[in-house]
Amino acid sequence: MKIEELKALLKEMTIEEKVGQTIQLSADFFSDQSEDLTGPMNEMAMTEEKKYQVGSVLGISGAKETIQLQKRYMEKHRLHIPLLFMADIIHGDHTIFPIPLGLGATWNPDTVKKTAEISAKEAAAQGLHVTFSPMVDLVRDPRWGRVMEATGEDKLLNKRYARAFVEGYQGTDLKQDLTKLAACVKHFAGYGAPRGGRDYNSVDLNENTLREHYLPAYQEGIDAGAKLVMTAFNTIDNIPATGNKRLMRDILRDEMAFDGVLISDWGAIGELVPHGVAEDNKAAAIQALTVGVDIEMMSAAYSEHLIDLVEQDETLKELLDESVWNILRLKNDLGLFENPFRGADEETESLSVFSDENKKAALTTAEESIVLLENNGVLPLNQEEKIVLTGPLKDSNDILGAWSWKGDREQAATLAEMMGQRLGPDSLSIVDESQFFEGQNSFFMNEIHLSDTVIVALGESSEMSGEAASRTIISLPEYQMVLLRELKKLNKKVVAVLFNGRPLDLSGVVPLVDGLVEAWFPGTMGAEAVTNVLFGKFNPSGKLPMSFPRSVGQVPLAYNEDSTGRPMTDEKRNEKYLSRYLDSENTALYPFGFGRSYTSFDYSECTLSSQEISMETSLTISIEIKNTGKIKGIETVQVYVRDKVGEVVRPVKELIDFKKVELEAGESMTVEFEITEKQLRYTHADHSVRSDAGEFSIGIGTDSSAELTHSFYLEK
Ligand code: NOJ
Repeated sequence: MKIEELKALLKEMTIEEKVGQTIQLSADFFSDQSEDLTGPMNEMAMTEEKKYQVGSVLGISGAKETIQLQKRYMEKHRLHIPLLFMADIIHGDHTIFPIPLGLGATWNPDTVKKTAEISAKEAAAQGLHVTFSPMVDLVRDPRWGRVMEATGEDKLLNKRYARAFVEGYQGTDLKQDLTKLAACVKHFAGYGAPRGGRDYNSVDLNENTLREHYLPAYQEGIDAGAKLVMTAFNTIDNIPATGNKRLMRDILRDEMAFDGVLISDWGAIGELVPHGVAEDNKAAAIQALTVGVDIEMMSAAYSEHLIDLVEQDETLKELLDESVWNILRLKNDLGLFENPFRGADEETESLSVFSDENKKAALTTAEESIVLLENNGVLPLNQEEKIVLTGPLKDSNDILGAWSWKGDREQAATLAEMMGQRLGPDSLSIVDESQFFEGQNSFFMNEIHLSDTVIVALGESSEMSGEAASRTIISLPEYQMVLLRELKKLNKKVVAVLFNGRPLDLSGVVPLVDGLVEAWFPGTMGAEAVTNVLFGKFNPSGKLPMSFPRSVGQVPLAYNEDSTGRPMTDEKRNEKYLSRYLDSENTALYPFGFGRSYTSFDYSECTLSSQEISMETSLTISIEIKNTGKIKGIETVQVYVRDKVGEVVRPVKELIDFKKVELEAGESMTVEFEITEKQLRYTHADHSVRSDAGEFSIGIGTDSSAELTHSFYLEK
């Protein structure tokens, strides 16, 4: 539709029709059993008539369903404005990829982009238009269950992934390319920092930190062209984001130049009432419309009050027009006026969903996401040896992780199945650990005694992370620890494979194992990926996108913490009045960027092409890396800097670039990075983002514990 036609359409709409556009309902409101929905219909201030005026539906899937509903809806709508269909396609649609934290561990934005392309393709064939992804919230607290939906604790990594997701979902021409979805960057802003790691809790971030660390990934998603942004549940500056004018108008719309659709999170407008910043739903509706929330997801403030409100208030009427305009533009950008069934096609759907190509990508992505945490030589497994597989997750297909609502567990093989396929029954014995706990442990003990190596599949169930799944204890469940302790006594080689959604406290686990493999929730093809890693068919290369703490007492924890006035250093180890714990190191158990390989890499000393850079000139830092092991391997080479003196306190170090390189056994390679002034900019006291002249330390390493061995100067 041409812009003039779209404007004419807006003009023609009644207030009721305009308000309808701002309301989003879940798909069950339109299901055939709608008479059962009188309860929710009342709660949402809905009537059968109003239902066919709403602008969008969430949580629908299937080409047949979307086509049917779109037809039914458009017949009833006076102006035949099509519905928008949205859903949470977070780490895959039907074919499930590793959880986003696992995707983060690939350190490969190209891989992430590919997963987003495939997710969009499967979902678009079902008639979906928008995915509520990417979640770009920066995370430092593994107690928060939603860290599984994040790509980690670092702004550079998060930025690169934010762009990769948005580009992958949206492509370059949303109107023409019917295999794409509009992306929704969420949750604006700061949702990743709830106090105490408790979901939906308030957020206490100073503005400098918010701007310096948290906002850049949202900005990157917006710059990459994301069509929507979702509001966060939490407060910023003690005002809930969904009713926060400064955050939404001044920062998001003006400074960050977002001109797409702002959608509330589920029920978040109504939640302004229990938050205690709005007296009732009516006041909540005024607040949300004023800050520019275009679509209300599943609370009843707009549907109950907006018609009356705008009839009495010209300013609100204009604001309503502004919101409806944003929504109509999105529908137009998706080409829905010309083609309301855009992409929905049962045949394409059946060809695309779980296609061999998609499953292959799920396998290689899962392999790339796996992080080898410990290995004293036990891995890769020797196929000649006798292996026992045990542990509660050995035969579980609960390996898709939260936010995989269309993912079919039946499609996911278990580790027992995949290892069984690889090894015959003579070499592999699968033993149920419950026998051990139930006192019938003679078979269990016997099998263990006969074995050389024991693989123990441990971790969390998928309900233990995700939304509303915060925990105060982030160690493995106690019975899993008992199992490990008992195995340790038997003097066998033990390899623990972990399926989980957050950095766990593994301090108690490390002394009990010879090998430790972090598999996250690896998705549909996860068990095969883990098997490939265990047997060395794939040499692990994943690197942690989030620090693993030594204990829950350290969290929130991040490698790039602010410099303190009393830093703890090795030389001062015996001093008391330092920023330290009496009972723990400050550092992580496994730092950000950490991950082992089956081969080893030797880093030479790095060299700088110059000791100075300026606004116009850059320098190159280079290093020679050698694969000193016996097999080919992939290494992620990481560059960290420290700004020695800033106007505000600067982090102890920050990642400024990285490269993934593959080296044959014995091969050496020079890896180079160009350093420019732009990478040295930061948020000043007045919130301007710029660099300061002065000295910077720099270093290259295999993880964030890299020493900053060199320095250079930025000239004025
Ligand atoms: C609530 C979650 O916070 C959000 O991330 C999600 O997209 C919506 N529900 C819709 O399911």
